[in-house]
Amino acid sequence: MSKNIIWSENLISRKDRESMLGQKGVIIWMTGLSGSGKSTIAKSLEKKLHENSKLAYILDGDNIRHGLNSDLGFSKDNRVENLRRITEVGKLFLDLGVITIVSFISPYLEDRERIRAEFASDEFIEVYVKCSLEECERRDVKGLYKKARKGEVKNFTGIDSEYEAPVNPELVLNTESIGIEALSDKVLDYLITLWEG
Ligand code: ADX
Repeated sequence: MSKNIIWSENLISRKDRESMLGQKGVIIWMTGLSGSGKSTIAKSLEKKLHENSKLAYILDGDNIRHGLNSDLGFSKDNRVENLRRITEVGKLFLDLGVITIVSFISPYLEDRERIRAEFASDEFIEVYVKCSLEECERRDVKGLYKKARKGEVKNFTGIDSEYEAPVNPELVLNTESIGIEALSDKVLDYLITLWEG
């Protein structure tokens, strides 16, 4: 951190913004292989929240890598930096009171645990979007698995770069056996229980 910079408190707090919005900020951190269904669930969830007058926003790996993180590739260091920046953006969104749906492969356990530790326990919900590599590869929506198998894309998660599944996530959503609508409902139910409790 640079020296000689001093944090300055604002006159309006997160609580003020949350009461204006009538909601609580939360980070829903979705992790899973490319093609597992993270973005599709995120979109469905965002729509349902919006229809219930809740302000939600998706931070999605593919999209963020077009802008803020366009300088980053897929080496281990770059993925760590990718997630570090998203964690910081997530903190800003949380401070805004927004229901923030983070949809990144986020393949490393250690990174996700470090990120979790930066939030309070009721602010961070880890969601494992579970789908076998075989099924993700069969879907191959973006054609990237095919390219990775041919060696045209390097360090591809699941092929020549590892994915470490969560050990104790708040939610597991299996996209091989359950449909998207039911799965986004599951997240919604979790949030409702969290807010009511
Ligand atoms: S993460 O590992 O750093 O969390 P992130 O979610 O931002 O990944 O980006 C993943 C998306 O980038 C994939 O869904 C895929 O479309 C694309 N992609 C391109 N190259 C790779 C690669 N080598 N490994 C994984 N995803 C890749």
